[in-house]
Amino acid sequence: MRTLVVDHPLVAHKLTALRKETTDTPTFRRLADQLVTLLAYEATRDVRVEPVDIQTPVAPTTGVRLRKPQPLVVPILRAGLGMLDGMLKLLPTAEVGFLGMVRNEETLEASTYAERLPDDLSGRQCYVLDPMLATGGTLAAAIQFLTDRGADDITAICLLAAPEGCARLEQGLDGIEVPVTVVTAAMDERLNEKGYIVPGLGDAGDRLYGSAGSH
Ligand code: URA
Repeated sequence: MRTLVVDHPLVAHKLTALRKETTDTPTFRRLADQLVTLLAYEATRDVRVEPVDIQTPVAPTTGVRLRKPQPLVVPILRAGLGMLDGMLKLLPTAEVGFLGMVRNEETLEASTYAERLPDDLSGRQCYVLDPMLATGGTLAAAIQFLTDRGADDITAICLLAAPEGCARLEQGLDGIEVPVTVVTAAMDERLNEKGYIVPGLGDAGDRLYGSAGSH
């Protein structure tokens, strides 16, 4: 597994504003959207392209276009939905699949409650959107799900990550041959006893959507 912490002053600036407890929901959504677009720029550095001949108003030349099959973007419900628009700004032709996963707040184990994904993901580059890489259980389960269907290259985009989550994810990927990259805006200090990232930004789903969907 490759982990890339994006080191850019605009990323740090927007993340700081996201973290603040006084940042209201509309502002949080807008900042998350912008931050994802910045992270997506780094995350798509290895997106697959192919050469294409074109004609400019001046001369013929060769450029590149995204190779088929189009990349698949997979937000993990619910909080990953808040990252979808920011991602699609950079990859408007990507297909979108959905994976609903919930974390049991006592055991911290992740389970799948919904999925809307192609049965066959052979040859697909997948971009998984999950704002908080906390215990790593959700992301490990999501990546397992995608590789079981044949995905052959996976990049996870997370607003924040914790060292414990990265270590657990790495363990969870043991035996998975597919290359996995995690792109994040920051590697925070640790998890607290409730599995929250410290200093973190709180519950990403609640901050994006309010507490109506919390358990
Ligand atoms: N999920 C969140 O929304 N926040 C955390 O800090 C950890 C998991």
